[in-house]
Amino acid sequence: MLDKNQRVLIRVDFNVPVNNGVISDSSRINSALPTIRHFLNLGMSVVLMSHFGRPNGFDDNYSLKFLVQPLSKLLNQKVLFSADIRDLDVLNTIKPGEILLLENLRFYPEETQNDLVFAELLSKYGDIYVNDAFGTSHRKHASIQKIQEFFSNKSYMGFLLEKELSELKKIQQSSLTPQTVIVGGSKIGSKIHILKTFLNKADNILIGGGMAFPFIKFMGGKIGGSLCKHNEVEVVKKFLFQAKKSTTKIILPIDCVVTDSISSKTNIKYCDIMSIPDGYMGVDIGDFSVKLFRKYIANSKLILWNGPMGIFEAEEFSAGTKEITNAVSEFTANSGYSLIGGGDTVSAISEFGEKSQFSYISTGGGAMLDFFRNQNLPGIMGLKTIIT
Ligand code: 3PG
Repeated sequence: MLDKNQRVLIRVDFNVPVNNGVISDSSRINSALPTIRHFLNLGMSVVLMSHFGRPNGFDDNYSLKFLVQPLSKLLNQKVLFSADIRDLDVLNTIKPGEILLLENLRFYPEETQNDLVFAELLSKYGDIYVNDAFGTSHRKHASIQKIQEFFSNKSYMGFLLEKELSELKKIQQSSLTPQTVIVGGSKIGSKIHILKTFLNKADNILIGGGMAFPFIKFMGGKIGGSLCKHNEVEVVKKFLFQAKKSTTKIILPIDCVVTDSISSKTNIKYCDIMSIPDGYMGVDIGDFSVKLFRKYIANSKLILWNGPMGIFEAEEFSAGTKEITNAVSEFTANSGYSLIGGGDTVSAISEFGEKSQFSYISTGGGAMLDFFRNQNLPGIMGLKTIIT
């Protein structure tokens, strides 16, 4: 039984896209509000914890302090902030019905190490634990997985998590074909393993954004200064070897927009993606690639999209992502089913279109893709449904 003297510790995913210090899409915050309000309305105190970005230790640029004001505006009440997660004294200051936001979990390396001692420290913040961070539930991190060991029978799903799971299950069971997966963005390290899941399942995988360059490099292309870590070419090699034996077509961009400086944008050119000049880097897909991707989109029945096609936050590099937004929205208007996920992708479609032009928008990017590999995400196993 819950009583108002209890504290609820809620893991949220406030890893929101930020452009020049301004939140460019608040979906992840807005989607967590029903769960937060639920407990506040019961008179309980709420402790919120989240990560933000991938900082290397304490770094003011990644502090969660910037969320205090928007959150208190949304919740119409004061939000307390704790800059030091190890200082549990703050707990003496929260009263029933109050809300406390903890500093970025990833300032502590133990978070991503799924460290037991850190998880135990976090567990002191709540009498019950709620996971409403669907977007991070594919991570084996202390606040997501290990922490559950300290809340046997007292770890629950938030409303957002519940809704995401029920929608994604429906899509997973869907027999709509052809299916096309569109991936972009830069997190190739975590996404490529997930893409393997779609081999023999999806009919097409379209790869854009920073994800494309390790592929182009592997194929013998010159990628200049475009995104590509040393080990990624090897990862791509293994993936393409498996893909070749599957029924899934892997489609890569054929041209791109390049620049010698992302910040000053003084020199911008179009070029064949196989021959990016030295000193230049790919920042968007080009017109021919858009045409090619559009053809696959229009011929599909189900589209899953995660990751922008370029650095869409800068107008000069936004055309590819804008065109793909339009193509997927037209596809949806023609009775196709579109599933869009991930902070940056959702931010892009809200900038270039209307969210209502798509069938379902998930707060998870990697988590959404990972869900199709294994429904039992680390952050979800063992959770009860929420108390109402
Ligand atoms: C996301 O944006 O996909 C989630 O917040 C997880 O972030 P991560 O990829 O840095 O773990």
